[in-house]
Amino acid sequence: MENVTIFDHPLIQHKISMLRDKRTGTNEFRALTEEIAMLMGYEALRDLPLEDVEVETPIETCMTPMLAGKKLAVVPILRAGLGMVNGILALVPSAKVGHIGLYRDETTHEPHEYFCKLPRPIDQRVIVVTDPMLATGGSAISAVDFIKQHGGKTIKFMSIIAAPEGLERFHAAHPDVQIYVGHLDRELNADAYICPGLGDAGDRIFGTK
Ligand code: PRP
Ligand code: URA
Repeated sequence: MENVTIFDHPLIQHKISMLRDKRTGTNEFRALTEEIAMLMGYEALRDLPLEDVEVETPIETCMTPMLAGKKLAVVPILRAGLGMVNGILALVPSAKVGHIGLYRDETTHEPHEYFCKLPRPIDQRVIVVTDPMLATGGSAISAVDFIKQHGGKTIKFMSIIAAPEGLERFHAAHPDVQIYVGHLDRELNADAYICPGLGDAGDRIFGTK
């Protein structure tokens, strides 16, 4: 699939396996989520635009590349997407952060929106949407719908684990979005949970349930 990257880096795979382990506690789960986001972000941001600027070194003045344009926008899908934000901010500390609040109805599995705020001007920024889990794809599709309605154009989506059904549905709905997935799992179960997955990402990051 064009615009879809599925990572095979051993460090990412190792850390995802640690996330899956039900014995991994909240503290470690948070740290791993952040580390995976940083490793994925390093690759996902390799096409950020650069411009040459003048810098005076201790030896001489030179033209040297720096990130160009408006600051990057990181947009986590609440709650679980928040766990990935610091990993991206470690790479681009000056990025702006928006928020999209969505929860899945437990019966219909449809996403419901409860909060949305994006940094302006959103149309001039590279936008990185984060959510560790891409299950049915409903939340990702709604989040990107919202960002596009507000003018967002250059959108990347990062998820740690995806189900094949959700990835296909999301890609079909938004083929222009560059999607980065840490691992593609087997399938969804009857409750729309990813198998083998890691359980409920939000609950594991925030210690709820
Ligand atoms: C989870 C997860 C995604 C969504 C994925 O969020 O963090 O946002 O489900 O499922 P989908 O692809 O089928 O839409 P949840 O609704 O459980 O909210 P939470 O992050 O607040 O726990
Ligand atoms: N959301 C999660 O947190 N986990 C899943 O497996 C599916 C949706």
